[in-house]
Amino acid sequence: MEYFLSEQQKTIKSLARRIAEEKILPVRAELDEKEEFPWEIMKVLAHTDMFRIFIPEEYEGLGGGCLDLCLVVEELSRVCSAVAISYAAVALGSFALLQYGTEEQKRKYLPDIASGKRLAAFALTEETAGSDASAIRTTAKKVAGGYLLNGTKRFITNGGEAELYTVIALTAKERGARGASAFLVEKDTPGFSFGRKEKKLGIRASSTRELVFEDCLVPEENMIGKEGTGFIITMKLFDHTRPGIGAQAVGLAQGALEAAVDYARQRVQFGHPIISLQAVQHMLADMAIQVEAARALTYAVARTIDSGAKHFTEESAMAKVFASDIAMKVTTDAMQVFGGVGYMRDYPIEKMFRDAKIIQIYEGTNQVLRNTIALELRKRKGIRE
Ligand code: CAA
Repeated sequence: MEYFLSEQQKTIKSLARRIAEEKILPVRAELDEKEEFPWEIMKVLAHTDMFRIFIPEEYEGLGGGCLDLCLVVEELSRVCSAVAISYAAVALGSFALLQYGTEEQKRKYLPDIASGKRLAAFALTEETAGSDASAIRTTAKKVAGGYLLNGTKRFITNGGEAELYTVIALTAKERGARGASAFLVEKDTPGFSFGRKEKKLGIRASSTRELVFEDCLVPEENMIGKEGTGFIITMKLFDHTRPGIGAQAVGLAQGALEAAVDYARQRVQFGHPIISLQAVQHMLADMAIQVEAARALTYAVARTIDSGAKHFTEESAMAKVFASDIAMKVTTDAMQVFGGVGYMRDYPIEKMFRDAKIIQIYEGTNQVLRNTIALELRKRKGIRE
């Protein structure tokens, strides 16, 4: 399909594809098996300016938009979804700073993120706060010189590997969602340590870890936005980043489709390659339709955001939900095309199938995001253009 990408976007996409095929493909199975954070790949992404894409030019970035970021995430995920999310989580961890940071905060941190010197991460989720995001318990108590953070964050992507964390904590416990604030916390801050590292079904090369805060003093100047705006910042941030998760799903589904077509061409049963069987052809055709539909929606939402639209909560949730459901469906069907060998670790489809599941779960479960979409529909008055 013709998506009318700019010359720069085509260059970014093809560079990301080259990195994925030349640098990630040869090591993806080993990284997955060893559950090893892809540091060498992160260095390659840094050297090729991939972290500059989502940072404005005045902070040593390339000033790209949501679609540019989606193109990179998609291409990385086509080969390895764990690498793609490790990269995308840096954008997630930078986004509050990008949108709501002070000039001083941006000058201090963004150039290092752009160069890849520091990876970033975002920390909201806790044991008591998954879908119920405002049920966090981590507190940030105002003291002389800053805020004392106490609590434990859970399932934090890039946890332990990132140098800079955007952490959501309660500055006014009694005010719930309106009592949360956002803080920038550096890795080596006293009182900040890392707990349990999760052992996961999929995206195993990515790091998913607990963050532990014990009387961790964060300087006052590290608060992002105003006290009490942390929850709204978070919700707006997800509106911007969910298309990136859609792109992760599109890339993964694309990789699975390509693997299934290749296998169906060479696997001979009953004297013919199985791609000559109509039952297999129809499965492949449905997979191709679904991948293209997910890509079209994801790009359209990213373009809506890049056009300067003010409100895109619903569209952003749609891209994430639709693309991730399709990634699960396409990887499942791709494994069916592979038959028995697809279930074995010798072929990439087993990893792709495992990697797909989490995309329906993180950055808002697909159930909670359907609630979000339905809520927007209920609020709507009349017919929208
Ligand atoms: N933009 C602006 N404001 C928003 C908003 C948005 N998109 N969504 C909600 N708000 C505001 C509401 O207007 C409300 O403000 P008021 O108090 O002024 O009315 C406030 O935020 C609270 O909103 P709700 O009452 O709707 O919130 P809730 O407590 O019922 O939560 C939910 C509902 C917001 C949908 C929440 O369930 C949700 O988003 N859950 C998903 C959490 C999530 O995405 N976690 C991901 C963790 S990070 C991750 O997964 C990354 C990774 O590792 C890859």
